[in-house]
Amino acid sequence: MNKIILTAVGGNTDETVALVQEPTPTPGADEVLVAVEAAPVNNADLLFAAGWFGVYPQVPNAMGAEGVGRVIAVGAGVSSSLVGERVLVLPTFVQGTWADQVVVPVSTVVPVTGKADPLQLAMLPVNPATAYSLLHDYVDLRAGDWVGIDMANSAVGQYVIALAKKAGVNVLAVVRREETVPLVRELGATLVVVDGEDLGDRVAQALDGKQLRLLLEGVGGTEPLEQLARSVEAGGTVVAFSAATGQSPALPLADLIYRGVSLRSFFILNWIRTTPRAELERIYAELAELVEQNVINATVEATYPLAKHQEALAHAARTGRTGKILFVPAGTTR
Ligand SMILES: NC(=O)c1ccc[n+]([C@@H]2O[C@H](COP(=O)([O-])OP(=O)(O)OC[C@H]3O[C@@H](n4cnc5c(N)ncnc54)[C@H](OP(=O)(O)O)[C@@H]3O)[C@@H](O)[C@H]2O)c1
Repeated sequence: MNKIILTAVGGNTDETVALVQEPTPTPGADEVLVAVEAAPVNNADLLFAAGWFGVYPQVPNAMGAEGVGRVIAVGAGVSSSLVGERVLVLPTFVQGTWADQVVVPVSTVVPVTGKADPLQLAMLPVNPATAYSLLHDYVDLRAGDWVGIDMANSAVGQYVIALAKKAGVNVLAVVRREETVPLVRELGATLVVVDGEDLGDRVAQALDGKQLRLLLEGVGGTEPLEQLARSVEAGGTVVAFSAATGQSPALPLADLIYRGVSLRSFFILNWIRTTPRAELERIYAELAELVEQNVINATVEATYPLAKHQEALAHAARTGRTGKILFVPAGTTR
C-alpha cells in the first residue's frame, strides 16, 4: 500500500513529505482496516507538518487527519458487520488518511449510510463538526439572532453559513477578497462585508442597530477582531477557531472588561475527545444527511492521486484558492 509520511518537522514539504510503499497492515484487536476513498488537505495538516499545530509530529508520522473509506478488514475484537461499511475517519494525527489504506482504532471511525458524495463526506469530520459546535456549544442561538464570522469564504465559513441559514439565524459574513462575495452571498449569508478600511463602521452601518450575539473569529491578531467586536452585544461571545495570521486574537480591553464580551475557543481534537460517543454518532449522522440533501457542502477545487502529493500540497497552500484539495485513489481524480 502507498502512504504519505512526514519525515522531518518544519521546512519545505517538498523535502519533508514523502510517498512510501509498505505491506498492507493487519488490524489489531480493536482496529479496522479502511480503504480510503477520499482525504482532504487541511490547513491543520500543513501546520502539523510545520510543527505549529496542537499536536507535535513524531516522525516518521503518517499524514492526513481525516477522510472517508470502506472497512475492508477488522480485528478480533470488532464486529465483522462493519466490513463493507463506509466510515468517516476522525482526526488523530497519528494514523494518516493520505494513504490507499489505513489501520485505525475502531473508536476513531463513525459509520455513515446513504449516498452522499465521498468527497464531501471526507471533509465531514473536521470542518462541518467545527461549524456545528461553533453554532451549538457556546450561545443558545434562536431564529432571528445574528452571528458574525470572518474568513467567511473558508470551508468552515461555508458550513457555518449553511447551518445558520437552516436554523433561521442571520449571518454577517466578513471576507478579505471582493471576488468571494458572490459565493458567500449565494450560500445564504444575510450581510457580506469586505475587510478593509473602516470595517467597524461599515459593519455597524450594515447591521443598522442590530448586534451580534456570537462572533466566530479565524484571522487572529488585532484586526479585524477589534473592528468587529464593537458590533458584538454586551455580554456576547467571541469564539476563536483559527489564527490565520499566526497571532493570538486580541479582544480590546474595553469590550472584554467594560462590556463583558467573552473570548472563548474551539479545538476539534478536544471536541472529539470530550463529546460522548453517542452524541458524536448523532451529530455526524445529521451532518452526513445534510450533505446528502445538499444543504451543506464545501467547494472542491481539485483532487489528486497520492503520487502527485507535492503538487497537491503546493496547490493547497496557494492564496486565491477557491475550494478544497483532496487526495483520491489513482484514476478517480475529478
Ligand atoms: N480550531 C479547530 O479545531 C479548527 C477546525 C477546523 C478548521 N480550523 C481552522 O479554520 C481555518 C479555516 O479552515 P478551512 O479548512 O475552512 O480553510 P480553507 O477552506 O482552506 O480557507 C482558508 C481561509 O483562510 C483565509 N486566510 C488565509 N490566510 C489568511 C490571512 N493571513 N488573513 C485572513 N484570512 C486568511 C482564506 O482567505 P482567502 O480565500 O481570501 O485567501 C480562506 O478564507 C483554518 O485556519 C483552519 O486551520 C480550525
